Amino acid sequence: VSTKPIISKDFLQCMATKHSATTVYTRESTLYPSLFQRSQQNPRWLNSTLTLKPHYIVTPSQEPEIGATILCSREHGFRVRVRSGGHDYEGLSYLSRNPYVLIDLVHLRAITINMKDGDDDQTAWVQCGATLGELYYSIAQSSSTHGFPAGVCPTVGVGGHISGGGFGALTRKYGLAADHVVDARLVDVNGRILDRRLMGEEVFWAIRGGGGASFGVITAWKIKLVPVPLTVTVFTVHKTLEQGASKLIERWQKTADKLPEDLFIRVIVQNLDGGSYGVKKTVQASFNSMFLGNIQRYFNINMHHQHSFSELGVEAKDCKELSWIEAVLYFAGHSSGTPKEALLDRDHQLFKSYFKAKSDFVNQPIPETALQQVWERQMQVSEAYIIMEPLGGMMNHVPETQIAYPHRRGNLYNIQYIVKWKVNEAEEARRHIHWVRMLHKFMSPYVSKSPRTAYFNYRDLDLGINAINRSASYLEARLWGTKYFKNNFERLAKVKRSIDPSNFFRDEQSVPPFG
Ligand code: FDA
Repeated sequence: VSTKPIISKDFLQCMATKHSATTVYTRESTLYPSLFQRSQQNPRWLNSTLTLKPHYIVTPSQEPEIGATILCSREHGFRVRVRSGGHDYEGLSYLSRNPYVLIDLVHLRAITINMKDGDDDQTAWVQCGATLGELYYSIAQSSSTHGFPAGVCPTVGVGGHISGGGFGALTRKYGLAADHVVDARLVDVNGRILDRRLMGEEVFWAIRGGGGASFGVITAWKIKLVPVPLTVTVFTVHKTLEQGASKLIERWQKTADKLPEDLFIRVIVQNLDGGSYGVKKTVQASFNSMFLGNIQRYFNINMHHQHSFSELGVEAKDCKELSWIEAVLYFAGHSSGTPKEALLDRDHQLFKSYFKAKSDFVNQPIPETALQQVWERQMQVSEAYIIMEPLGGMMNHVPETQIAYPHRRGNLYNIQYIVKWKVNEAEEARRHIHWVRMLHKFMSPYVSKSPRTAYFNYRDLDLGINAINRSASYLEARLWGTKYFKNNFERLAKVKRSIDPSNFFRDEQSVPPFG
């Protein structure tokens, strides 16, 4: 980044010279406020004085505009932030404490599905500004027997999601979204547009699970689609504490990763309103499930597989047979019969809220007594979610070093602690953030150790950050970097040194160059 004083008209002049067709929104533009806020999922920083707002927002519809923006930003003293779906838990895709330009990929979201015979059979090119919902919808338009193993929330962007790993209901069967990337396009610090061959295998390795923001601007992924049956079965069983939720979760922990790979059962524990007179505060566990097959096969397999979770007591009447795309809508919380076009709603408000989250990977079952203490803590706040996502299956068959995402064999499940609040006030935020930090501290004896790991896509700045106003240190960053990336962190830092040695692509949790 240039050390020249920032003169706004110079940046605009530069953009006009390098790519005159690019629309640059200044803080004075009428559309600036709505563009800036539109895809933010966690608007808790909206009124914060700690963060700057971008000097400019650029919404490229062609790759060369991104190259021009990078070069002009470097020349005129700005950093860049890159936003695809805006779901970053800590807002790193659109906030910075240094003067910056926001590259918002909202117009770069074409999806081309390839179902022809030949080499490109059953693949898709998806540009990074597309959402998972748009991707799933496009796949379903082309085939009713193909899907893609990625997250459950349709408004998540494929740019951030796939670069951080990406897990969901098909992960036990097929692994991560990032495991299915076969090519990618990236604009580097010199504005060059690189595909897999040009970026080289090391960079291609790094952007699959190591996060995109450290290495350049990824514009598109080429992904391999996966087969899904015409009919899948879904069910959700709810149990409160009084109905034995703790015992069931204790049992779930011992089986969820060992069940047939076609079966995914996650657990979401949430508060049940204890506010009204006479209603006791409690929590409810929802066992939210998808099976890749029809109801009959589900019961058959349950009867014959060496591991089963029969204690859940699922009956045929609890189950629904759906197409895969209908199951996507079901997991996204849509009611039965909702048309699949609902997946195209980028502004769906269902999940938007002020929140703070933290995560852990669990290697051995947590004792029931400890779980009970978790629920007691949960009842101290009005809206918290403990989400447990099972691993095992295909995740056990992929080596830790295959791509940059490392959390494979040995992990039973990922656990996430989310707390939400309703009013955007400092005291409310402080109280809730304190609560989730205390819960995370309480969990220390029960989760992965040395390092205590976390999922990069569930970003948590409490784990550590790079220095803001001096050069970032690899040795300092190792403290938090190994939590997200284990031993892959060193290799990521070496890739960083090769593709962006001056550390232009830099934020609070970007990978610093090795050395
Ligand atoms: P966003 O645009 O905010 O980017 C996130 C990070 O990636 C930022 O650092 C950004 O700069 C960088 N980045 C984005 N696009 C880039 C690009 N094109 N090139 C380079 N860098 C880029 N996860 C999961 O695995 N399974 C799930 O089911 C869910 N569900 C879920 C629900 C909800 C409501 C939220 C808020 C989040 C999730 N997630 C998730 C987590 C999600 O995977 C994670 O937040 C992703 O980073 C979001 O990607 P976006 O593109 O939306 O984020």
